[in-house]
Amino acid sequence: MNMNFDDKVEFSFNFEIDEDESVVSRTLTEAEDYKDRNDGPVREAEENILSSDHLQLIRSELLPKAHTEVVSFHVKEKEHISMTKLTIKAEEQLNNEQCSFAGDLKKTDLISGVYEGGFKLWECAVDLVQYLIDEKIEVDNKQVLEVGCGHGLPGIYCLITGRGTKSHFQDYNDEVVKFLTMPNLVLNDKDGRLASCASFFSGDWSLLEEYQDERGDQYDLILTSDTLYSSSSHSKLYKYMKRLLKPDGVIYLAAKTYYFGCGGGVRQFESMVLDKAEMNISTVHKIADGQSNMREILKITHKH
Ligand SMILES: C[S@@+](CC[C@H](N)C(=O)[O-])C[C@H]1O[C@@H](n2cnc3c(N)ncnc32)[C@H](O)[C@@H]1O
Repeated sequence: MNMNFDDKVEFSFNFEIDEDESVVSRTLTEAEDYKDRNDGPVREAEENILSSDHLQLIRSELLPKAHTEVVSFHVKEKEHISMTKLTIKAEEQLNNEQCSFAGDLKKTDLISGVYEGGFKLWECAVDLVQYLIDEKIEVDNKQVLEVGCGHGLPGIYCLITGRGTKSHFQDYNDEVVKFLTMPNLVLNDKDGRLASCASFFSGDWSLLEEYQDERGDQYDLILTSDTLYSSSSHSKLYKYMKRLLKPDGVIYLAAKTYYFGCGGGVRQFESMVLDKAEMNISTVHKIADGQSNMREILKITHKH
């Protein structure tokens, strides 16, 4: 694969599935029945290993049944790379043992404290990959953490395009990591190189902060998309990312300016960060396509 980022990079989608399975689940911007709950039990922090048995299950059972969409990145006129996005319909494809809340996913996209939306692709993940391409963000030899990864497209993009890059993927739900993030990485692992450069974690940010810090995990680049919908989680998200960001590291956060029905949004998160006066935060890009609500890319760094 030849990638030359001096040339204009274009991003396009090829839809190979039904309309209602569209690449970006826009209804998720309005999760009206979302109950913001931050006082109940939360998921334990753990590393999820991509074992050879699980790899076998992915290849023999999950991938053959899954819908896929091709995402093409045009590098120059006739050059492009493609990423693929997998759709797992947990409510139909996973049994109760694999995913206890699968049955509820027909009714809702978020169950606070139980399931935090990782099985669907939210539109800010696409914005974030687009931003990394457009701004030619350096990913070679970087330790990358994708926070709240779901499909993991930004982290996978870094692995595909970066030399010597390592991506760690984190989701609240181990079910999402095992049955979506890992298979999606395998699907995009054209030369068999990506899996050995990836690690996976699940659990609540409040517990992962300590767990990963004790492992010595530190990152040059932290990427996260559509993780600001619940204002009661802003503080733990901030603390988690701040603790694991190297002194010269950069966080790129893609989010909607306001999440209707959920209550969270960029301005609340931004004012919390500004009040703490420990990190720099600024909006580096805005997306107003007229079809969805306003979205932004924030850049966050340590203050020196
Ligand atoms: C709406 S989904 C976005 C998924 C993906 N980034 C995308 O844009 O398609 C929110 C993500 O944040 C994670 N998340 C939300 N609250 C969390 C928490 N308290 N601790 C850990 N992860 C959390 C979820 O697991 C999920 O991956």
